[in-house]
Amino acid sequence: MVADSLLEFGIAELLNNYAPDCRLGKVWGASVTRQTGVRRPVFVEPQQSRMGAGSDLDYCGCVTNYRFEDFKPTIDESTGEPDERTKGYFASTSVGFHDARSTDAALKGRVERAIADGRNLTAVYADQEYDHGLDSSIPVATFAWFEKLVNVGGGRLVPGHLITWITVRPTHRRRGLLRSMMTTDLAEAKANGYPFAALTATEGGIYSRFGFGVATWSHSIEVDTSPGFKMVREPDRRVEMCLPSELRELAPEIYDRFMRTSPGAMQRQQTYIERATGALNTETGEEDRGVRAALHFDEQGEPDGYVSYKFAGWSKTPPTVDLIDFVAVTDAAYASLWSFLAAIDLSTRVTFGESAEYSPLPWLLTDSRRVKTVATEDNIWIRILDVKAALEARPWYVPGTLTIDIDDSLDLAGGRFTITSDGESAEVTPASESTPADLGLGIAELGSLYFGGADPVILARAGRIDEQTPGAAVLASAMFSLGRAPYSPNGF
Ligand SMILES: CC(C)(COP(=O)(O)OP(=O)(O)OC[C@H]1O[C@@H](n2cnc3c(N)ncnc32)[C@H](O)[C@@H]1OP(=O)(O)O)[C@@H](O)C(=O)NCCC(=O)NCCS
Repeated sequence: MVADSLLEFGIAELLNNYAPDCRLGKVWGASVTRQTGVRRPVFVEPQQSRMGAGSDLDYCGCVTNYRFEDFKPTIDESTGEPDERTKGYFASTSVGFHDARSTDAALKGRVERAIADGRNLTAVYADQEYDHGLDSSIPVATFAWFEKLVNVGGGRLVPGHLITWITVRPTHRRRGLLRSMMTTDLAEAKANGYPFAALTATEGGIYSRFGFGVATWSHSIEVDTSPGFKMVREPDRRVEMCLPSELRELAPEIYDRFMRTSPGAMQRQQTYIERATGALNTETGEEDRGVRAALHFDEQGEPDGYVSYKFAGWSKTPPTVDLIDFVAVTDAAYASLWSFLAAIDLSTRVTFGESAEYSPLPWLLTDSRRVKTVATEDNIWIRILDVKAALEARPWYVPGTLTIDIDDSLDLAGGRFTITSDGESAEVTPASESTPADLGLGIAELGSLYFGGADPVILARAGRIDEQTPGAAVLASAMFSLGRAPYSPNGF
């Protein structure tokens, strides 16, 4: 009930605050009922349209009432096909992400994967429908979340609240629908006990206002594998090619072991297995028979790494192999799989879009310039929902005491806390106003520090952290480090 009244307040208050900007008028009723899975309508009195007001951001037609519904993706048992509500939901996300309209078979595959991932969907419907316009059963906005385990350091796995599939139809954007869905969801995730939420972002400018900070990055790399590619030390080369279908059983097991070694890594969704095995080309929604795969074996002959890849075609210059997935539990597997890739004939370049920000690859080679980073992208964004639970869940390898003052504009997790680390774990206790803070920071900045990926010294230099005790940023840099740079080869 506490959560319900919080959520009720959230929608009405936030839309009331938001609406004057958009000149849509006052929200005069809003309520959330999670028990039934249906949120009652948010009514917005239409006022003056802002079309023609000259803003390139706002498109406000005549707004109407919105109805929010929470549900699970469903396949109708009697027909074996996705039910109408699920079909409408996916029709909407494909508009938002510029995907082609799915065939029936591709749609069913998407829905099956969404069910396997345990995704929870939110759809927003407008009550107004125009002749010839999209049917009102297709939502004007979508949102989804699912739970996956996240390595918060030292192999400690914590359930994370993963947010995805956020879309708002262009004709309904900039009216506060994202804000409404996000603030409602974060409040509910907190009430349900999740220490943090996570997402990956299509654009970098949207989510810090909701308290998300970039916590892991990935590199898109091109590796020159032409003659002369050589490693400083000869790897064991215990690699053999396999049918990609072999990865159906092996890839999840190998990934699960890898995930425990890499801070920031999290359980992956079903799509990754389908892509690695060639069962799914995400662009066509169909099988991909061009996919090849190889495994690395440990000294006992057990697989401990794999790569899945595809030749980019004869028209590409230089001839290129594109990696679909690359997961190595050990450094030996990592080195040997790269030596295998370099040995593929009739190809002199390997590309990989999800390489670690800090990988051993350049250091493995006698000529590190062969590894070219062509793009660096933010990957996982973290939103801390419970400071004590989140910080106590992770290991702390450097002893010390730090008092941090956290500002949270959504009032979900701010306050002053003292972190006392004994070099293994930390106790995190609320601190009184009379305890001086060593560092002042926003909740988004705390998210960026969470896996030790962002450096507090740099954040202080950028004015994102206020260093109130001289030297506190350097101490925080040591204390927040998780020993190994975070890396999460995952997008959702
Ligand atoms: C991004 C998107 C979801 C925004 O939805 P929306 O309902 O228009 O957003 P809201 O009206 O609730 O805006 C909430 C806030 O975010 C800001 N915002 C929205 N989209 C933004 C963008 N692309 N860049 C920067 N800020 C943005 C708004 O200005 C507003 O700011 P404020 O409340 O602090 O003043 C929508 O434009 C969309 O569907 N885009 C295509 C799909 C996509 O990129 N999804 C994101 C997946 S990670």
